[in-house]
Amino acid sequence: MGFKSLISIISLSVFAVQAANFRRVACPDGVHTATNAACCKFFALRDDLQANLFDNQCGEDSHEALRLTFHDAIAFSPALKKQGKPAGGGADGSMLIFPNVEPNFSANNGISDSVDSLTPFLAAHPTISPGDLIQFAGAVGISNCPGAPRLQFMAGRPNATAPAPDGLIPEPNDTITQILARMADGGGFSPDEVVALLSSHSIARADHVDPTLNAAPFDSTPFDFDTQIFVEVLLRGVGFPGKGGNVGEAQSPLPKTDDEDVGEIRLLSDHTFARDSRTACTWQGFVNQQAKMASAFRAAMAKLAVIGQDTSKMIDCSEAVPIPVPSKGKPATFPATKTNADIEQACASAPFPHLATDPGPVESLIP
Ligand code: HEM
Ligand SMILES: *[C@@H]1O[C@H](CO)[C@@H](O)[C@H](O)[C@H]1NC(C)=O
Ligand SMILES: *[C@@H]1O[C@H](CO)[C@@H](O)[C@H](O)[C@H]1NC(C)=O
Ligand SMILES: *[C@@H]1O[C@H](CO)[C@@H](O)[C@H](O)[C@H]1NC(C)=O
Repeated sequence: MGFKSLISIISLSVFAVQAANFRRVACPDGVHTATNAACCKFFALRDDLQANLFDNQCGEDSHEALRLTFHDAIAFSPALKKQGKPAGGGADGSMLIFPNVEPNFSANNGISDSVDSLTPFLAAHPTISPGDLIQFAGAVGISNCPGAPRLQFMAGRPNATAPAPDGLIPEPNDTITQILARMADGGGFSPDEVVALLSSHSIARADHVDPTLNAAPFDSTPFDFDTQIFVEVLLRGVGFPGKGGNVGEAQSPLPKTDDEDVGEIRLLSDHTFARDSRTACTWQGFVNQQAKMASAFRAAMAKLAVIGQDTSKMIDCSEAVPIPVPSKGKPATFPATKTNADIEQACASAPFPHLATDPGPVESLIP
């Protein structure tokens, strides 16, 4: 045997080993291939959600689907379980299986919109469990938001057998101590991970905090997964956007300016997370740090999505999650008229980063 053929036998066998490691199965749709046949059905679900719910947009339905991933998953309490009380099943689809129970809890105000919009997809994709549908829909929806990370998706959540009890979902009028304790019990989250999860409020608008306002944004860019939320929540509040003073609402820096305008709204909990000594430096540390924020959020979401589940029985189907729309690459800025002088510096160990101010009058802030 010549030297050349020896080399090619060696490289062929290396190739065969690699091919065995990365062998893909052809899906019955004749279009996709998957690392595991169990992932095939998620390609069809992805296309259906994008075409018939999200319209490939980072709009209301994508935002609501992300909020639902949290409210389904965090309703889980090892502490209650220890006391022999109903403790919830975590990311188990209980929101969809018992739509007349959990969605009625006050902390879930507005969640029935996403429950109602996802329910028809269960009938259309009967082999996909409600728990999988919720977490997958959240991952697909956020992929439409420029700057979002591509979330991990693990498949195989069994049907929930009972609804979660009331009292397990954080509310904006809870104290930081209460929220951190709940997040540690429910998901084993550290304070840093809780702040990372609050990147979600970068793509959020509230309908129920101020009952006089619909779709009041939490930051000036609610359709971009960017770091503006971490800047704007640190600005000094100057007034309420609506009539003011609602439960769980803090003063906003960009209130309603005229009848056409919506104004920005600020959750009391976000306000306090940005200023509490346990979380302020992590909060400030995400300002203008798009890649850092996206990767911390991705890691914390990977934990959230499997709360209460036995991951050894699940299959990684992340390949069915769309590649997200890239970040617009615009650095974080102070909204028009605002400067460093408007920042309520709360992190004691690092100065607030230098940012430019957007041009224009204050009325042009909110899309
Ligand atoms: C931990 C404390 C949290 C509190 C107190 C909280 C509270 C709230 C409140 C009151 C709203 C407004 C709902 C409305 O009036 O329509 C909201 C919206 C939202 N939340 Fe949270 N949240 C928290 C954490 C999270 C987490 C961890 C996620 C996801 C990972 C999340 C995702 C969202 C999204 C996407 C919206 C916007 C929904 C929309 O625009 O329709 N939140 N949150
Ligand atoms: C929950 O709310 C829905 C809609 O408001 C209502 O039809 C249903 O009866 C409520 N369920 C319970 C158990 O209160
Ligand atoms: C989950 O519930 C649905 C609807 O009741 C049912 O069709 C499906 O077989 C159940 N799945 C399992 C694994 O029990
Ligand atoms: C927060 O507000 C809700 C009503 O909106 C109330 O039921 C709840 O007790 C309040 N929580 C705290 C900790 O004050």
